[in-house]
Amino acid sequence: MKRQYEIEKAEGKLGILIPGIGGAVSTTFLAGVEAVRRGLGVPIGSITQMGTIRLGKRPEYRIPRIKDFVPLASIEDLVFGGWDPFPEDCHQAALQAGVLKGEHINGVGPFLERVKPWPAVFKQEYVKNLDGKHVKPEASHMELVEALRKDIEVFREANGLSRCVMIWCASTEAYMRPSEVHSSLARFEKGLKDNDPAISPSMLYAYAALTSRVPFINGAPNLTVDIPAMVELAKEHGVPIAGKDFKTGQTLMKTIIAPGLKARMLGLTGWYSTNILGNRDGLVLDDRDSFKTKEESKLSVLHSILQPDVYPQLYKDFYHKVMISYYPPRGDEKEGWDAIDIFGWLGYPMQIKIDFLCRDSILAAPIVLDLVLFTDLAQRAGMTGIQEWLSFYFKSPQCAPNLYPEHDLFIQSMKLKNTLRYIMGEDQITHLGLDYYYTS
Ligand SMILES: NC(=O)c1ccc[n+]([C@@H]2O[C@H](COP(=O)([O-])OP(=O)(O)OC[C@H]3O[C@@H](n4cnc5c(N)ncnc54)[C@H](O)[C@@H]3O)[C@@H](O)[C@H]2O)c1
Repeated sequence: MKRQYEIEKAEGKLGILIPGIGGAVSTTFLAGVEAVRRGLGVPIGSITQMGTIRLGKRPEYRIPRIKDFVPLASIEDLVFGGWDPFPEDCHQAALQAGVLKGEHINGVGPFLERVKPWPAVFKQEYVKNLDGKHVKPEASHMELVEALRKDIEVFREANGLSRCVMIWCASTEAYMRPSEVHSSLARFEKGLKDNDPAISPSMLYAYAALTSRVPFINGAPNLTVDIPAMVELAKEHGVPIAGKDFKTGQTLMKTIIAPGLKARMLGLTGWYSTNILGNRDGLVLDDRDSFKTKEESKLSVLHSILQPDVYPQLYKDFYHKVMISYYPPRGDEKEGWDAIDIFGWLGYPMQIKIDFLCRDSILAAPIVLDLVLFTDLAQRAGMTGIQEWLSFYFKSPQCAPNLYPEHDLFIQSMKLKNTLRYIMGEDQITHLGLDYYYTS
């Protein structure tokens, strides 16, 4: 299938709006982008900056870099702004987050100092373990939406931006099931007027973004745009949406290893995952309600990759447990253990142990960069609503209601690259390869 999309040029500046701009992921992202711009670092882990894409037949040897193949915004054109319930500028916040070393932070210090959070839309009942005071005074949902829309407009005008993208890098909100007020745009808008408590702060940010024609990406596991009302709103305003929950650390490993076990038809009896981390995210997840939101997101992965209903002899009733413990001495340097019980030929048991000494925000920062650049591309290509082709970056990829999400990292990677080929009018690659051996 071949199709050429009309893609608007990536001209002018692209504003990146970040709820949670004072957090570990955001400040690591900001400092990293500025370090790359100044030639002080390499954007390792970013597909848009370092990845290549094969085009055509293998003998053609056409393997351009992705950023030379699709018209992405240049990182030179990114401008940053955002909200946080803590008032420290991003230099102080980066030092507090403790992800990057002083030498890296100070090298871009003046740039980080200039990024000062705007007062947030924050309600403690959604994030119990934080108590930020740098918050908007408005009380009603509609007033808060208006205040956010005004921030977006002021940011746009002050920086002469041609486009914006909003990405949620704020804390995980307390667990919430989709309810009546989320089920349609009309009900949601009534809920806004009635100050319905099932409308969380992240939904107010998303509503303000989409109605300002700004795409919205959700890096946390909260529902936010993964409800029918927001899908409808995104379609109505012709804006892309994507989510949920950046795929870093342990879940990244899971979605690399589980497809391999399944490809080899090896069975699984149990997968026990535990983590210790000591950053602010760990503190937030120490609250049962916020952890429940994260747990749902982390648990969904294995079932959908292994398909126990299709392979009952291999995967029926495997036991899956995920734990996160807040342990301050580790800061952002999380340790994730996996004890994996598998079985092979004639049912003989085997074990795999993984001890991943990872750095969460170091893995998340390039994801943020890729997501904002690809979502801006989607907007310019006229691709509105759910961007399932960006599943590669998420623990709980959002997809159409009649589909199951795709979690297998290798299928996700193929989906992403084939989408890029498709919108640029190139042949998709099937890896069949028989035509190299049998010609008709
Ligand atoms: N670090 C990772 O690798 C990773 C992976 C997947 C998902 N996530 C998610 O990304 C988010 C950010 O992670 P982090 O490690 O940077 O956490 P963090 O706690 O360092 O940063 C979150 C920031 O959001 C702010 N905040 C909370 N509520 C807000 C609101 N209503 N409006 C604006 N700001 C608000 C907090 O004050 C904090 O500065 C979390 O939800 C986390 O679960 C992170």
